[in-house]
Amino acid sequence: MFNTKIQKMSESNLDKVMQIENACFTGEVWTKESFKQDIVNAEHRLCFVLIEKTTVIGYAVLDILDEEYDLLKIAIDISKRRQGFATILFNYIKANAKIQGINKISLLVRQSNTEAKNLYIKLGFKEIALRKHAYPDGEHGIFMCTNV
Ligand SMILES: CC(C)(COP(=O)(O)OP(=O)(O)OC[C@H]1O[C@@H](n2cnc3c(N)ncnc32)[C@H](O)[C@@H]1OP(=O)(O)O)[C@@H](O)C(=O)NCCC(=O)NCCS
Repeated sequence: MFNTKIQKMSESNLDKVMQIENACFTGEVWTKESFKQDIVNAEHRLCFVLIEKTTVIGYAVLDILDEEYDLLKIAIDISKRRQGFATILFNYIKANAKIQGINKISLLVRQSNTEAKNLYIKLGFKEIALRKHAYPDGEHGIFMCTNV
């Protein structure tokens, strides 16, 4: 249906990743340098890009914990939203987790981030706990988990 592929993020993807990052996040934007470090630290981090034809339209970054992935970030280009792309990317991550023997994926989401909360609920995540003032600006975070 979609002309998409998912691959590990590489430095050649970073200009487009940074465009999406800057458009998606305010106040907690990661720098190109920190992305480079995420890629270099591949042993405990996973970074994927979603490519449509030849263009990066989304990405996700995860921490690999003992038997768990922590989804740190998932973002889709504004012009490509609400077309199922985050779902495609997450389903790939989940399939990858299963192959790696990971049994749980967890994340923290801002209480005000309705689109992300709705996405995660649709993907099967359950709200586990409210983490008060979890973000630097004082906003509460919702800790969510799903089994793989
Ligand atoms: C959250 C985000 C990744 C969703 O990406 P997406 O490709 O648009 O998501 P999908 O098309 O796969 O949507 C799946 C479901 O998520 C929910 N959803 C997505 N966007 C939504 C919105 N704007 N409003 C309400 N629900 C929304 C819906 O339940 C949707 O299913 P539906 O379209 O059948 O109703 C995207 O909005 C984004 O990049 N946001 C900015 C970055 C961010 O906040 N990331 C999460 C925290 S790191």
